[in-house]
Amino acid sequence: MPAVPASVPAVEPSPWRLCVAPMLDWTDRHCRHFHRLLSKHARLYTEMVTTGALLHGDQPRHLDFGDEEHPVALQLGGSEPSDLAACAKLAERWGYDEVNLNCGCPSPRVQRGAFGACLMNEPALVADAVKAMRDAVSLPVTVKHRIGLGKDESYAFVRDFVGTVAAAGCEVFIVHARNAWLEGLSPKENRDIPPLRYEVAHRLKAEFPALTIVVNGGIAGDEAIAAQLAHVDGVMVGRAAYHEPWTLATWDERFFGEPAPAQDRAAVELAMVRYMERQAAAGVPWAHVARHMLGLWNGEAGARRWRQVWSDHRLKGEPAAVVHALAQRPARVAAEQGVPAA
Ligand SMILES: Cc1cc2nc3c(=O)[nH]c(=O)nc-3n(C[C@H](O)[C@H](O)[C@H](O)COP(=O)(O)O)c2cc1C
Repeated sequence: MPAVPASVPAVEPSPWRLCVAPMLDWTDRHCRHFHRLLSKHARLYTEMVTTGALLHGDQPRHLDFGDEEHPVALQLGGSEPSDLAACAKLAERWGYDEVNLNCGCPSPRVQRGAFGACLMNEPALVADAVKAMRDAVSLPVTVKHRIGLGKDESYAFVRDFVGTVAAAGCEVFIVHARNAWLEGLSPKENRDIPPLRYEVAHRLKAEFPALTIVVNGGIAGDEAIAAQLAHVDGVMVGRAAYHEPWTLATWDERFFGEPAPAQDRAAVELAMVRYMERQAAAGVPWAHVARHMLGLWNGEAGARRWRQVWSDHRLKGEPAAVVHALAQRPARVAAEQGVPAA
């Protein structure tokens, strides 16, 4: 029998062991298709979809996804338990593997809707929402949250939030390990400025060992992931996965003890071209797909020029295969000339 790498647990790994974070405008179905070529086992999350958009908007546009995306979770934004339950039913009907409630987004628009991070001030309401969703579907209902609001760093606040929501049946908590400051910071600043306190997520796991605790925030690279997995059940990676997608290519082997699905970057790029061709037949311009893979060759010779070709809007009338051929040229020339990595 082949030796199991030390970082793969002897027992079946948690389905939440490695997750790619929900990211608005980024983790659409094309991005998830791309990530799935790099890891078969990472759990993927949609962008946040609000209950209003789902109940009154174009449901197929928000919910359709490809069979290859599993396991994939729908993230909801909302606070009204009956609306959330109705949306959870839609998620189940569409075939999602999980429904996740956003209790971490600090944007002013979301605050006006009284959901996202401000829900951390209302654990009883979140518990009601979780219960309503669990009563409506048999999918796992999970919560993604912060570790506090404003400058208050009391552990009791997040412990009581998790305890109350867990009592309503939520078994999986994705902990973005920094506070949300609801005043004075933009959403982007709220992902960088409030300090990371991973020890809070670790303490939650120690205090609630039966819960699945997934830590998120500022985690990049296999070593950092492995270090977190010594304390918690799973790691969710956001920006690092998006900007440096090739880092996903080692995950299956290292963290799930399974063969890596991607042969090399060129094979992934070619698979994406074929996908763009299928999407083009359905009316989707290649640029809507290609924008998610611009980091694929980062660190390799010719990467900057390659990126420029795939983001050149003057080429938007050309088929993806033509753009692909053009994009190969700079990489080849750079490699032949020994140009250093960009
Ligand atoms: C462009 C962008 C959009 C995001 N949209 C969402 C979202 O829709 N729902 C959510 O829960 N978090 C959202 N986040 C936050 C991420 O899920 C994650 O919690 C955060 O980026 C911290 O993880 P990271 O340091 O690994 O990126 C977003 C982050 C970014 C960069």
